[in-house]
Amino acid sequence: MTDWEPRAVALADELAAAGKLTDERWRKALTSVPRHVLVPEYFQPDQEGGWRRVSTSAGEGLDAVYSNKSLITDVDERGHAVSSSSMPGLMVRMLELLEIGRFHRVLEIGTGTGYNAALITEYLGNGNNLFSVDIDYIDTAQERLASLGYHPTLRKADGVDGLPDWAPYDRILATVAVPRIPAAWVAQLNDGGRILADIKVAVSAGNLVLLRKNGDTLSGRFDGRYAAFMAMRHPDRAQQRPSQPATSGNEEHSTTHYEPMAWENTVVWFLAALQFPEGTTYGMQLDSDHQPSKATFSSGDGSWARVDIKADANGERLVVQSGPTSLWDVISDGYRQWEEAGRPTWDRFYLTVKPDGEQVVWLDDPEGEFSWLLP
Ligand SMILES: C[S@@+](CC[C@H](N)C(=O)[O-])C[C@H]1O[C@@H](n2cnc3c(N)ncnc32)[C@H](O)[C@@H]1O
Repeated sequence: MTDWEPRAVALADELAAAGKLTDERWRKALTSVPRHVLVPEYFQPDQEGGWRRVSTSAGEGLDAVYSNKSLITDVDERGHAVSSSSMPGLMVRMLELLEIGRFHRVLEIGTGTGYNAALITEYLGNGNNLFSVDIDYIDTAQERLASLGYHPTLRKADGVDGLPDWAPYDRILATVAVPRIPAAWVAQLNDGGRILADIKVAVSAGNLVLLRKNGDTLSGRFDGRYAAFMAMRHPDRAQQRPSQPATSGNEEHSTTHYEPMAWENTVVWFLAALQFPEGTTYGMQLDSDHQPSKATFSSGDGSWARVDIKADANGERLVVQSGPTSLWDVISDGYRQWEEAGRPTWDRFYLTVKPDGEQVVWLDDPEGEFSWLLP
């Protein structure tokens, strides 16, 4: 038999010491749910750029499943991760932030392995008030949850539509990123209810936001700590694939003093991403010694930019860009807006979802100088 309990207790102790777990009842949930049953194996990147499967029943797998790690639990035919069991520390921090009450009806978007659903069911005392949707994996999650005596209501559905059959809910928790709060979630939330979701307007561009419903408006603050979930996918809709950087065309050359790896400043990256064309993403070019030499950006409209990582003696770096959108100019504008706003951190940003559907991000004061519309 797997000796998992002391490991779950050690993980709870570690999270409590790090300030990520403060509520005794969430601690009890964390120490009562055998994560290895819900995550019997995970995918680990191998040396050849592929994946190897690791069982969590013993050894390194068992250690990993009771550590504060996110574990990839499915990859698609292109080798992209499409489901994971999120970091337990992030999960409990989100659950604490939501202030789930004993009799609340809770909707989770992104069931995945069911681990988070198990924590919430354990916390609520039973699964009667927990509902969870995923675009996939529901049968497996249901089976494993049932083997542990947990019986929440799970449905295979596109989470963008919420789960109308059991609405309204007091809490909606999304463990998958969305570019804006879907109208269905707003409609399915009770007055006074809360939504905790990861807003990402492009890859890595956004953060967790905790919203409260007041009448027909939702408002709330972004979390001070950065977190990122995988983006929601919609297999029934044609997905636009970002085009690869072209090798020829009209290239503009300029220089910049801004940091080329703009995605590392997540606030700047978010402000820039509000102006990005669809499908904008980033990467790095390596030199012949396999060291990163250029930051690269490309968009679905065929635009691309390349920026030297090393600056010259004056602190300037070469920029080459091409295509209908001057991507590096958009990113530089993100830097400038951030500087003008006083280099704010995430905890100074708020989001309001208005009854007409407009979603406004604002800094410090809803009537203040700095606000942005979510696309
Ligand atoms: C980070 S995982 C969720 C982790 C999960 N809460 C757990 O405890 O294991 C994100 C999940 O969102 C799901 N997902 C992606 N697009 C979705 C969509 N449109 N509707 C519902 N779920 C979606 C993925 O299939 C994946 O299982």
